[in-house]
Amino acid sequence: MPDADSPLEAKQYHQDILQKNTPFFLKGSGAYDWGMQNRLARVFRPDSGRAVMLAIDHGYFQGPTTGLERIDVDVLPLVPYVDALFVTRGIVRSVVPAMTQAPIWLRASGGPSILKELSDEEIALDMEDALRLNAVGVGVQVFIGGPFETKTVHNMTRLVDAGLRHGVPVLGVTAVGRELARDARYLGLACRIIAELGAQVVKTYYCDPDFDKVTAACPVPIVMAGGTKLPELAALEMAYNAIQGGAAGVDMGRNIFQSDSPIAMLRAVRKVVHENMPPREALELYETLRREHDPQPLVSAR
Ligand code: R5P
Repeated sequence: MPDADSPLEAKQYHQDILQKNTPFFLKGSGAYDWGMQNRLARVFRPDSGRAVMLAIDHGYFQGPTTGLERIDVDVLPLVPYVDALFVTRGIVRSVVPAMTQAPIWLRASGGPSILKELSDEEIALDMEDALRLNAVGVGVQVFIGGPFETKTVHNMTRLVDAGLRHGVPVLGVTAVGRELARDARYLGLACRIIAELGAQVVKTYYCDPDFDKVTAACPVPIVMAGGTKLPELAALEMAYNAIQGGAAGVDMGRNIFQSDSPIAMLRAVRKVVHENMPPREALELYETLRREHDPQPLVSAR
């Protein structure tokens, strides 16, 4: 029915204001469909262009990893501080409350345990289930140079095809297995292959020197994986150097959930990533927040 209650001359058409096209803020991501961009913008903050993802998927190949034995007890309290949770669907359904506001980025590959050849992975998640879980993205290992290199590349490209059908971004992880070097030459090769074959985001390790060359040659955003546990200052320095070297964020696990004070560490990493806080200042913040979140028991004066 016509708009009878509002005469035409009362409407506001703002004919003098041209409708703008707002360019999408993420590197290399301007040509994606709306749903894909919207999912990315729920993880990468439009104001900083960066993201702090918390990786807690380690159990998918190494079982009850130190710090993740009881995700309900030890990890759920961290969730309000993350930009996304990188997690398996098993943990999502069994432990993560559906009321959570944190975007869920699902682990989508798996197969071998730490007892077998790690690169022998398959796709371990249907894109339809990712949609059912309201995921913002899926992630897959790619073992460039590994025994099952081609198979893992193919896992990723099939997920990219499925993701493009539904607007779900794919995070390709430069998985190094046990033997491969983590230098700029290798990581630059792996990141570029992953991006060329369609991943919308690449996760890789930090390297020194030349991490900036790895990010420069990768046409889509890179997030830094943390690796084995380091002292807090070293982990904050690594995150800072990665961000200053062009990373669009971090997807850290052990350096957060194995910290003496995981919430304090996560909040300090957020300052480094979103506000360029220098590492020593971030360490001071960590120490302050640690007293708030994990106060030391009082020692008896006797
Ligand atoms: C591989 O992608 C792993 O499953 C983790 O997601 C990744 O290694 C990041 O965790 P961490 O910072 O502990 O290395």
